[in-house]
Amino acid sequence: MTDATLRAEARTVALRWDDGTSTEFPFIWLRDNCPSGFHPDTGERAFDLLSVPEDASPAAVRLGEGVLEIDWAGEAHTSRFDTGWLRANRPGRPADDPADTPYLPWRADMGAAGIPRVAADAVLRSDAALADWLRQTRRTGLSIVEGLADSPEAGQEVARRIGFLRETNFGRTFQVKSKPNPNNLAYTADALPLHTDLPNQELPPGFQFLHCLANEAAGGGSVFADGVAIAEDLRAADPDAFALLSTVSIPFRFHDDDCDIRRRQTVIRLDETGAVSEVCYNAHIAGIFDMAPEVLGPYYRAYRRFMAATRDPRYPVELKLSAGEMVVFDNRRVLHGRAAFDPSTGYRHLLGCYVDRGEFESRMRILARAGHGG
Ligand code: OGA
Ligand code: ZN
Repeated sequence: MTDATLRAEARTVALRWDDGTSTEFPFIWLRDNCPSGFHPDTGERAFDLLSVPEDASPAAVRLGEGVLEIDWAGEAHTSRFDTGWLRANRPGRPADDPADTPYLPWRADMGAAGIPRVAADAVLRSDAALADWLRQTRRTGLSIVEGLADSPEAGQEVARRIGFLRETNFGRTFQVKSKPNPNNLAYTADALPLHTDLPNQELPPGFQFLHCLANEAAGGGSVFADGVAIAEDLRAADPDAFALLSTVSIPFRFHDDDCDIRRRQTVIRLDETGAVSEVCYNAHIAGIFDMAPEVLGPYYRAYRRFMAATRDPRYPVELKLSAGEMVVFDNRRVLHGRAAFDPSTGYRHLLGCYVDRGEFESRMRILARAGHGG
């Protein structure tokens, strides 16, 4: 860093960096982020922002070797900032985040051969392999772990390498097979058109893990499609439909004897930059549309357009899982489905669980701390 200038009228300290660029740090931001205000053990903010006036101002600013010192007017307090920390946290841009790795939208031409694959024992034994697998799974939103033990614990064991499991009304893990008295279409032998799981939840589960224990029945192939690709193509082709699907929420509902879980969601969800961050689409648990009559017409047009896109051969990638494989996908981005199967021709059994996005991203950051990725 070359110099620090106190700019009283702008109420900022301007820092000029070695590369010639400069950053304005507002006084109140500097006061709020004084390193002494963070608990030495927990790193949590212990400082009470209301203990200083909103117009807190430096009396003096000094730039030393890698340190910016500020004496505060009206307080017997000096803040000492590491200049590297100031650069990394400079206002006006998000701080670097090793979990913020890029998404790569994909379509049918990726083919099943393009789905990233990793060996279960590599992920279980090696942090480097785990980090690499997480990055690839975030990039594509989809991957396959192969070589799992023929045990109902094997899928969870891999999922727990990332973080704790997300429990839902279907349990901490769930058995996907044809069952008597099913409370979910997944527990029949019927086809499941492309969908995301549990948009009726306050927070739909993040990453989904489906460990294939047996897939001997005729039929039962899996299908996946990238919701980000579908939504971005819709934005380009039909901006009005995209606008409705990303702003008008619809009710989703699951109910059985034990629960009645409802939530409104927009089918397409955007982040603050306007990029598609999420898709919530499940025709089976969509509730009764309750928008005003004048909205229903245009909304149905937009919704049917999205629905038609989920059946467009441009998007799906198909494969039939084999015993010992586990498919892993971001349930809030990648839609999944399956073909009908005939239980009289053989056994089909998948074991599922979820790990939310927050735990997934946390693991990426912890692995990056140890030098694995970022
Ligand atoms: C599910 C599901 C797919 C399958 O359980 O949510 O979509 O292949 N299962 O059975
Ligand atoms: Zn599902």
